[in-house]
Amino acid sequence: MSGRGLFITFEGIDGSGKSTQARRLAESLRAEGRDVVLTREPGGSPGAEEIRALVLEGDPDRWSPETEILLFTAARRDHLERVIEPALARGALVISDRFADSTRVYQGATRGDLRGVVDQLHALMIGREPDLTLLIDIDPATGLGRALARRGHEERFEEFGAGMQARMRGAFLDLARADPGRFRVIDGGRDVDAVAADVAAAVRAALAETA
Ligand code: ADP
Ligand code: TYD
Repeated sequence: MSGRGLFITFEGIDGSGKSTQARRLAESLRAEGRDVVLTREPGGSPGAEEIRALVLEGDPDRWSPETEILLFTAARRDHLERVIEPALARGALVISDRFADSTRVYQGATRGDLRGVVDQLHALMIGREPDLTLLIDIDPATGLGRALARRGHEERFEEFGAGMQARMRGAFLDLARADPGRFRVIDGGRDVDAVAADVAAAVRAALAETA
């Protein structure tokens, strides 16, 4: 862990409730007087937000899978340099709505077999993992229903359909099984308060470990 802060990420398929839970967690930790940086990917820094617009808007075939990996990684590098690492160095809690596991799943596992490329680029340009990753696990039909209900102009990745969402859910669960020290899998198919209670318990345990 760099600095004295704690780096927490939320992951899961579209509509799993990550953003809702990330916001709730940030609010409750701030209410305790903690220094909290709530951020998101793709984006999170001015440069990375510009890349977000390039990658999420427009024609779904605009970028090849390889170019897409480069764009997500470029955005992450800027986000890491300008927001995440400075915040951790001053001892803040950083909560990011998605991080590198999303690239492993969306670009590595489901858009061609590019996991090796994703891992190499991560090692070369990012080289760090969160201290704690909360995987909000949800049935794809529920997630898709929630995501479509809130549909906006960032549509490129939300046109996947239920089959693809099921594969992505499986890929996230595989990552969690491979790294049980970092991941906590939380059942997102319940009401917001019940999910938030499990999130809070996982974060309290992580904070106690680092205290
Ligand atoms: P994500 O960031 O994972 O795509 P959001 O937090 O944006 O998910 O949630 C997607 C939609 O579902 C939003 O309209 C949100 O209000 C709603 N939602 C989030 N969590 C729950 C929940 N536990 N039960 C019902 N609806 C939820
Ligand atoms: P996000 O805004 O988190 O969407 P949602 O709230 O619907 O979950 O992320 C936008 C999309 O970008 C989402 O469909 C996942 C995709 N994505 C990737 O494909 N690769 C990545 O590395 C990241 C961070 C996101």
